Amino acid sequence: MSLPGYQKAASFSEIPDGGTIEVEVGPLPLLLHRRGEKVFATGVYCPHQDFRLYPSNCSGDTILCTAHGYRMNIQTGACQDEPDLFMATYATRVENGEVWVKLY
Ligand code: FES
Repeated sequence: MSLPGYQKAASFSEIPDGGTIEVEVGPLPLLLHRRGEKVFATGVYCPHQDFRLYPSNCSGDTILCTAHGYRMNIQTGACQDEPDLFMATYATRVENGEVWVKLY
């Protein structure tokens, strides 16, 4: 099965509830954050100065960039410390136990 415009990113069961994993979809590294039955997809680079973001720095709906301490919301991409900055976010769907991400 395929979903038009979406690419398969992971199996839903790979992501612990409340957890974050890193995957690659095509050439693009992504973070997948599972919160209950929902999965949110974000980029792996901080919108401040493009430092790498890591799954281990995610807690609740917030991911912390350890470079300068900025915090981003995994659902909206909004940066709590600099309102003009947004982390990349991607639409997701969960179908038949698979997580699909719309990259463009
Ligand atoms: S690069 Fe992430 S807070 Fe500065």
